[in-house]
Amino acid sequence: MKEICIVFCLSKQLLSLDDTRHLAEVLSSILKPEDILTLQGDLGAGKTTFARYLIRTLCQKDIDVPSPTFTLVQTYETPAFTIWHFDLYRMKVPDEAFELGIEEAFAQGISLIEWPQNLGPYYPHHALTLSFEDEGSAKKVTIRGNTQWETRLCHLKI
Ligand SMILES: Nc1ncnc2c1ncn2[C@@H]1O[C@H](COP(=O)(O)OP(=O)(O)OP(=O)(O)O)[C@@H](O)[C@H]1O
Ligand SMILES: [Mg+2]
Repeated sequence: MKEICIVFCLSKQLLSLDDTRHLAEVLSSILKPEDILTLQGDLGAGKTTFARYLIRTLCQKDIDVPSPTFTLVQTYETPAFTIWHFDLYRMKVPDEAFELGIEEAFAQGISLIEWPQNLGPYYPHHALTLSFEDEGSAKKVTIRGNTQWETRLCHLKI
């Protein structure tokens, strides 16, 4: 059985879209190829909104970032890497993830994954996990990661 060691846990209220944008901008500054962010939370919890701001920041452009609800994956090119935005809500079996390019994403790109639990045995336990919750007009996020993520995030003003 794979060892899961979460040592970093931080909760934050996201009272407005601006708060979500700020979080995305701050986190974007430390991301690099091979990083994986799993975005957890119920329908409407704020996952795509966060991904949208993160992608726009990394691409340095105010580009259209649709929810990949039906395509399941959408990619975005930056000069340094490809961003892979997955929404696995409609994925029927974990093996489908290979057809979507998950191996290439994990090996070379930055991966943002909504509904990551649908990966089953392929769930990336070394990912940084952002768990979103709907709190009426606002949202809440809880960020969890391993020692490596703690080291990388400890100097950020989240
Ligand atoms: N911090 C926030 N404050 C207020 N509203 C927000 C915030 N973040 C997101 N929203 C709003 O909440 C709604 C749902 O957000 P979003 O589509 O990102 O959820 P989701 O988790 O991706 O849902 P799904 O599981 O259906 O893909 C949108 O209308 C969005 O504008
Ligand atoms: Mg979504």
